[in-house]
Amino acid sequence: MEMQEEIEPLRVRTMETEKMGQTKATAADGSTAQAEPTGFALGTKMSIKRLEAGFGKSMVLKGVSIEVPQRSVTAIMGPSGCGKTTFIRCLNRIHELTPGAFVRGEVLLDGEDIYAPRADPVAIRRRIGMVFQKPNPFPTMSIYDNVAAGLKLNGVKDRKLLDEVVERSLKMGFLWDEVKDELRKSGAALSGGQQQRLCIARAIAVQPEVLLMDEPASALDPTATAKIEEAMVELKKQYTIVIVTHNMQQAARVADYTAFFYLGELVEFGETAQLFENPKKELTERYITGKFG
Ligand SMILES: Nc1ncnc2c1ncn2[C@@H]1O[C@H](COP(=O)(O)OP(=O)(O)O)[C@@H](O)[C@H]1O
Ligand SMILES: [Mg+2]
Repeated sequence: MEMQEEIEPLRVRTMETEKMGQTKATAADGSTAQAEPTGFALGTKMSIKRLEAGFGKSMVLKGVSIEVPQRSVTAIMGPSGCGKTTFIRCLNRIHELTPGAFVRGEVLLDGEDIYAPRADPVAIRRRIGMVFQKPNPFPTMSIYDNVAAGLKLNGVKDRKLLDEVVERSLKMGFLWDEVKDELRKSGAALSGGQQQRLCIARAIAVQPEVLLMDEPASALDPTATAKIEEAMVELKKQYTIVIVTHNMQQAARVADYTAFFYLGELVEFGETAQLFENPKKELTERYITGKFG
Protein backbone atom coordinates (compact mmCIF):
# COMPACT_ATOMS: atom_id res chain seq x y z
CA MET A 1 0.00 0.00 0.00
CA GLU A 2 2.75 2.36 1.07
CA MET A 3 4.60 1.65 -2.18
CA GLN A 4 1.60 2.74 -4.23
CA GLU A 5 1.55 6.13 -2.54
CA GLU A 6 5.12 6.74 -3.58
CA ILE A 7 4.48 5.94 -7.21
CA GLU A 8 1.35 8.03 -7.55
CA PRO A 9 2.97 11.52 -7.39
CA LEU A 10 5.41 10.50 -10.13
CA ARG A 11 2.58 9.51 -12.40
CA VAL A 12 0.70 12.72 -11.79
CA ARG A 13 3.81 14.75 -12.45
CA THR A 14 4.53 13.01 -15.73
CA MET A 15 0.96 13.61 -16.90
CA GLU A 16 1.45 17.32 -16.27
CA THR A 17 4.66 17.27 -18.27
CA GLU A 18 2.79 15.63 -21.10
CA LYS A 19 0.26 18.43 -21.18
CA MET A 20 2.99 21.04 -21.15
CA GLY A 21 5.03 19.29 -23.82
CA GLN A 22 2.17 18.97 -26.26
CA THR A 23 1.29 22.58 -26.79
CA LYS A 24 -0.45 23.31 -30.04
CA ALA A 25 1.37 25.29 -32.69
CA THR A 26 -0.50 27.48 -35.11
CA ALA A 27 0.95 27.67 -38.62
CA ALA A 28 0.88 30.74 -40.87
CA ASP A 29 -2.16 29.39 -42.72
CA GLY A 30 -4.03 29.13 -39.45
CA SER A 31 -3.90 25.33 -39.23
CA THR A 32 -2.84 23.81 -35.96
CA ALA A 33 -0.43 20.96 -35.41
CA GLN A 34 0.82 19.10 -32.38
CA ALA A 35 4.25 20.48 -31.55
CA GLU A 36 7.05 18.01 -30.93
CA PRO A 37 6.87 16.96 -27.30
CA THR A 38 9.73 18.56 -25.41
CA GLY A 39 10.27 16.42 -22.32
CA PHE A 40 10.82 12.67 -22.17
CA ALA A 41 8.14 12.14 -19.57
CA LEU A 42 4.99 11.72 -21.59
CA GLY A 43 2.42 9.90 -19.56
CA THR A 44 2.07 6.22 -18.75
CA LYS A 45 2.59 3.51 -21.37
CA MET A 46 2.38 0.46 -19.15
CA SER A 47 0.77 0.15 -15.79
CA ILE A 48 1.63 -2.88 -13.68
CA LYS A 49 -0.65 -3.55 -10.75
CA ARG A 50 -0.07 -5.99 -7.89
CA LEU A 51 1.84 -8.34 -10.15
CA GLU A 52 2.49 -11.73 -8.63
CA ALA A 53 4.40 -14.37 -10.56
CA GLY A 54 6.44 -17.47 -10.04
CA PHE A 55 6.98 -21.10 -10.82
CA GLY A 56 4.90 -23.89 -9.29
CA LYS A 57 4.77 -23.20 -5.55
CA SER A 58 7.57 -20.68 -5.62
CA MET A 59 6.47 -17.06 -5.58
CA VAL A 60 9.06 -14.86 -7.28
CA LEU A 61 7.22 -11.53 -7.60
CA LYS A 62 5.20 -10.63 -4.54
CA GLY A 63 2.88 -7.88 -5.68
CA VAL A 64 4.76 -5.36 -7.79
CA SER A 65 3.12 -2.11 -8.96
CA ILE A 66 4.88 0.27 -11.35
CA GLU A 67 3.80 2.85 -13.88
CA VAL A 68 6.14 2.85 -16.88
CA PRO A 69 6.31 6.29 -18.51
CA GLN A 70 6.18 6.31 -22.28
CA ARG A 71 9.06 7.27 -24.56
CA SER A 72 11.65 6.92 -21.85
CA VAL A 73 14.02 4.33 -20.46
CA THR A 74 13.03 2.60 -17.23
CA ALA A 75 15.74 0.47 -15.62
CA ILE A 76 14.99 -2.48 -13.38
CA MET A 77 17.89 -3.18 -11.06
CA GLY A 78 18.52 -5.38 -8.07
CA PRO A 79 20.65 -8.29 -6.94
CA SER A 80 20.76 -11.55 -8.84
CA GLY A 81 17.69 -13.70 -8.27
CA CYS A 82 15.42 -10.85 -7.12
CA GLY A 83 13.01 -11.40 -10.03
CA LYS A 84 14.09 -8.88 -12.68
CA THR A 85 13.95 -11.33 -15.58
CA THR A 86 10.68 -12.82 -14.38
CA PHE A 87 9.24 -9.31 -14.15
CA ILE A 88 10.00 -8.21 -17.69
CA ARG A 89 8.95 -11.60 -19.08
CA CYS A 90 5.53 -10.94 -17.54
CA LEU A 91 5.29 -7.67 -19.47
CA ASN A 92 4.89 -9.38 -22.85
CA ARG A 93 3.43 -12.71 -21.77
CA ILE A 94 6.57 -14.72 -22.34
CA HIS A 95 6.81 -15.83 -18.71
CA GLU A 96 3.72 -18.02 -19.09
CA LEU A 97 5.47 -20.08 -21.79
CA THR A 98 7.66 -21.70 -19.11
CA PRO A 99 6.05 -24.90 -17.80
CA GLY A 100 4.67 -24.38 -14.28
CA ALA A 101 4.80 -20.59 -14.53
CA PHE A 102 1.95 -18.53 -13.09
CA VAL A 103 0.99 -14.83 -13.23
CA ARG A 104 -1.59 -12.85 -11.25
CA GLY A 105 -2.40 -9.16 -11.19
CA GLU A 106 -2.77 -6.67 -14.02
CA VAL A 107 -0.47 -5.46 -16.76
CA LEU A 108 -2.05 -2.61 -18.70
CA LEU A 109 -0.78 -1.44 -22.08
CA ASP A 110 -2.39 1.90 -22.94
CA GLY A 111 -4.96 1.09 -20.30
CA GLU A 112 -5.86 -2.40 -21.62
CA ASP A 113 -5.02 -5.51 -19.62
CA ILE A 114 -2.73 -7.73 -21.68
CA TYR A 115 -3.92 -10.67 -19.55
CA ALA A 116 -7.62 -10.10 -20.28
CA PRO A 117 -9.29 -13.27 -21.59
CA ARG A 118 -9.80 -11.69 -25.01
CA ALA A 119 -6.21 -10.47 -25.34
CA ASP A 120 -4.13 -12.20 -28.01
CA PRO A 121 -0.65 -13.08 -26.68
CA VAL A 122 0.87 -13.14 -30.18
CA ALA A 123 -0.42 -9.65 -30.98
CA ILE A 124 0.82 -8.45 -27.59
CA ARG A 125 4.31 -9.80 -28.20
CA ARG A 126 4.35 -7.90 -31.48
CA ARG A 127 3.48 -4.67 -29.68
CA ILE A 128 5.92 -5.38 -26.86
CA GLY A 129 9.19 -6.66 -28.31
CA MET A 130 12.05 -8.24 -26.44
CA VAL A 131 15.82 -8.40 -26.60
CA PHE A 132 17.32 -11.21 -24.55
CA GLN A 133 20.41 -11.36 -22.39
CA LYS A 134 22.30 -13.55 -24.83
CA PRO A 135 22.20 -12.40 -28.47
CA ASN A 136 20.07 -14.91 -30.38
CA PRO A 137 20.05 -14.10 -34.10
CA PHE A 138 18.48 -16.79 -36.27
CA PRO A 139 21.68 -18.73 -36.98
CA THR A 140 20.90 -19.92 -40.51
CA MET A 141 19.68 -16.53 -41.74
CA SER A 142 21.53 -13.63 -43.31
CA ILE A 143 21.71 -10.25 -41.61
CA TYR A 144 19.00 -9.02 -43.98
CA ASP A 145 16.68 -11.94 -43.34
CA ASN A 146 17.14 -11.72 -39.59
CA VAL A 147 15.72 -8.21 -39.66
CA ALA A 148 13.07 -8.96 -42.29
CA ALA A 149 11.91 -12.24 -40.71
CA GLY A 150 9.06 -10.77 -38.67
CA LEU A 151 7.64 -8.82 -41.60
CA LYS A 152 7.90 -11.80 -43.94
CA LEU A 153 6.10 -13.89 -41.35
CA ASN A 154 3.35 -11.28 -41.39
CA GLY A 155 3.05 -11.74 -45.15
CA VAL A 156 4.99 -8.72 -46.40
CA LYS A 157 6.49 -9.56 -49.83
CA ASP A 158 7.13 -6.10 -51.31
CA ARG A 159 10.91 -6.09 -51.80
CA LYS A 160 11.21 -2.30 -51.75
CA LEU A 161 9.31 -2.07 -48.49
CA LEU A 162 11.41 -4.84 -46.95
CA ASP A 163 14.61 -3.09 -48.08
CA GLU A 164 13.42 0.14 -46.49
CA VAL A 165 12.49 -1.46 -43.19
CA VAL A 166 15.75 -3.40 -43.00
CA GLU A 167 17.77 -0.25 -43.60
CA ARG A 168 15.77 1.86 -41.17
CA SER A 169 15.87 -0.80 -38.44
CA LEU A 170 19.61 -1.40 -38.80
CA LYS A 171 20.18 2.36 -38.63
CA MET A 172 18.12 2.60 -35.46
CA GLY A 173 20.08 -0.31 -34.02
CA PHE A 174 23.31 1.58 -34.79
CA LEU A 175 24.51 -1.30 -36.99
CA TRP A 176 23.83 -0.13 -40.56
CA ASP A 177 27.23 1.46 -41.26
CA GLU A 178 29.03 -1.71 -40.19
CA VAL A 179 26.98 -4.17 -42.27
CA LYS A 180 25.44 -2.29 -45.20
CA ASP A 181 27.83 -3.86 -47.72
CA GLU A 182 27.37 -7.42 -46.47
CA LEU A 183 23.69 -7.83 -45.74
CA ARG A 184 23.77 -11.36 -47.20
CA LYS A 185 26.36 -12.49 -44.67
CA SER A 186 25.17 -14.79 -41.90
CA GLY A 187 23.94 -13.02 -38.78
CA ALA A 188 25.85 -15.56 -36.72
CA ALA A 189 29.14 -14.38 -38.25
CA LEU A 190 28.93 -11.00 -36.52
CA SER A 191 30.65 -10.15 -33.24
CA GLY A 192 28.66 -10.49 -30.01
CA GLY A 193 28.01 -6.77 -29.81
CA GLN A 194 26.92 -6.63 -33.45
CA GLN A 195 24.66 -9.65 -32.94
CA GLN A 196 22.95 -7.90 -30.05
CA ARG A 197 22.39 -4.78 -32.18
CA LEU A 198 21.06 -7.07 -34.92
CA CYS A 199 18.57 -8.44 -32.38
CA ILE A 200 17.56 -4.87 -31.51
CA ALA A 201 17.05 -4.13 -35.23
CA ARG A 202 15.04 -7.35 -35.60
CA ALA A 203 12.86 -6.39 -32.64
CA ILE A 204 12.10 -2.89 -33.94
CA ALA A 205 11.51 -3.99 -37.56
CA VAL A 206 7.96 -5.02 -36.66
CA GLN A 207 7.41 -1.59 -35.09
CA PRO A 208 6.62 -2.49 -31.51
CA GLU A 209 5.55 0.16 -29.03
CA VAL A 210 7.55 -1.12 -26.11
CA LEU A 211 11.00 -2.69 -26.14
CA LEU A 212 12.02 -4.93 -23.25
CA MET A 213 15.72 -5.66 -22.81
CA ASP A 214 17.07 -8.17 -20.32
CA GLU A 215 20.66 -7.22 -19.52
CA PRO A 216 21.36 -6.68 -23.24
CA ALA A 217 24.98 -5.71 -22.64
CA SER A 218 25.96 -8.12 -19.87
CA ALA A 219 28.04 -10.27 -22.23
CA LEU A 220 29.64 -7.34 -24.08
CA ASP A 221 32.85 -5.35 -23.73
CA PRO A 222 32.72 -1.63 -22.84
CA THR A 223 32.89 -0.44 -26.48
CA ALA A 224 30.04 -2.71 -27.56
CA THR A 225 28.10 -1.70 -24.44
CA ALA A 226 28.52 1.98 -25.29
CA LYS A 227 27.05 1.35 -28.76
CA ILE A 228 23.99 -0.35 -27.27
CA GLU A 229 23.53 2.52 -24.83
CA GLU A 230 23.87 5.02 -27.67
CA ALA A 231 21.16 3.15 -29.58
CA MET A 232 18.87 3.28 -26.55
CA VAL A 233 19.10 7.05 -26.29
CA GLU A 234 17.86 7.29 -29.89
CA LEU A 235 15.26 4.53 -29.54
CA LYS A 236 13.52 6.11 -26.57
CA LYS A 237 12.46 9.01 -28.76
CA GLN A 238 10.01 6.60 -30.38
CA TYR A 239 9.69 3.66 -28.05
CA THR A 240 9.11 2.94 -24.41
CA ILE A 241 12.08 0.96 -23.14
CA VAL A 242 12.32 -1.22 -20.06
CA ILE A 243 15.81 -2.51 -19.43
CA VAL A 244 17.00 -4.95 -16.80
CA THR A 245 20.49 -4.30 -15.57
CA HIS A 246 22.53 -5.29 -12.57
CA ASN A 247 25.00 -2.61 -13.58
CA MET A 248 24.22 0.53 -11.60
CA GLN A 249 26.45 2.72 -13.73
CA GLN A 250 24.49 1.63 -16.77
CA ALA A 251 21.19 2.49 -15.12
CA ALA A 252 22.59 5.88 -14.14
CA ARG A 253 23.79 6.51 -17.70
CA VAL A 254 20.77 5.48 -19.75
CA ALA A 255 17.67 5.37 -17.59
CA ASP A 256 15.24 8.20 -16.97
CA TYR A 257 13.53 6.16 -14.26
CA THR A 258 14.90 3.39 -12.10
CA ALA A 259 13.19 0.69 -10.07
CA PHE A 260 15.03 -1.19 -7.35
CA PHE A 261 13.82 -4.74 -6.72
CA TYR A 262 14.75 -6.87 -3.74
CA LEU A 263 13.53 -10.41 -3.03
CA GLY A 264 10.62 -10.12 -5.44
CA GLU A 265 9.40 -6.78 -4.18
CA LEU A 266 9.67 -3.26 -5.50
CA VAL A 267 11.59 -1.33 -2.89
CA GLU A 268 11.74 2.01 -4.63
CA PHE A 269 10.91 3.59 -7.97
CA GLY A 270 11.66 7.11 -9.11
CA GLU A 271 13.60 9.36 -11.39
CA THR A 272 17.07 7.93 -11.81
CA ALA A 273 18.91 10.95 -10.41
CA GLN A 274 16.65 11.05 -7.36
CA LEU A 275 17.00 7.33 -6.70
CA PHE A 276 20.79 7.44 -6.86
CA GLU A 277 21.41 10.78 -5.20
CA ASN A 278 18.61 10.87 -2.70
CA PRO A 279 17.09 7.42 -2.18
CA LYS A 280 13.99 7.31 -0.03
CA LYS A 281 14.61 3.83 1.38
CA GLU A 282 17.53 2.72 3.47
CA LEU A 283 17.66 -0.56 1.56
CA THR A 284 18.11 1.32 -1.72
CA GLU A 285 20.86 3.42 -0.21
CA ARG A 286 22.67 0.34 1.08
CA TYR A 287 22.43 -1.29 -2.36
CA ILE A 288 23.66 1.68 -4.36
CA THR A 289 26.54 2.28 -1.98
CA GLY A 290 27.65 -1.31 -2.50
CA LYS A 291 26.85 -2.65 0.99
CA PHE A 292 25.32 -5.79 -0.56
CA GLY A 293 24.32 -7.13 -3.92
N1 LIG B 1 12.29 -21.71 -14.95
C1 LIG B 1 12.36 -21.53 -13.62
N2 LIG B 1 11.84 -22.43 -12.77
C2 LIG B 1 11.89 -22.26 -11.44
N3 LIG B 1 12.45 -21.19 -10.83
C3 LIG B 1 12.99 -20.25 -11.62
C4 LIG B 1 12.98 -20.36 -13.05
N4 LIG B 1 13.59 -19.26 -13.56
C5 LIG B 1 13.95 -18.51 -12.50
N5 LIG B 1 13.61 -19.09 -11.34
C6 LIG B 1 13.83 -18.56 -9.99
O1 LIG B 1 13.13 -17.33 -9.84
C7 LIG B 1 13.88 -16.42 -9.05
C8 LIG B 1 14.02 -15.12 -9.81
O2 LIG B 1 14.78 -15.34 -10.99
P1 LIG B 1 15.00 -14.23 -12.07
O3 LIG B 1 13.71 -13.59 -12.38
O4 LIG B 1 15.75 -14.86 -13.18
O5 LIG B 1 15.92 -13.18 -11.27
P2 LIG B 1 16.97 -12.10 -11.78
O6 LIG B 1 16.72 -11.86 -13.24
O7 LIG B 1 16.72 -10.91 -10.92
O8 LIG B 1 18.34 -12.65 -11.52
C9 LIG B 1 15.21 -17.10 -8.74
O9 LIG B 1 15.14 -17.62 -7.45
C10 LIG B 1 15.28 -18.20 -9.78
O10 LIG B 1 16.01 -19.29 -9.28
MG1 LIG C 1 17.97 -12.07 -14.93
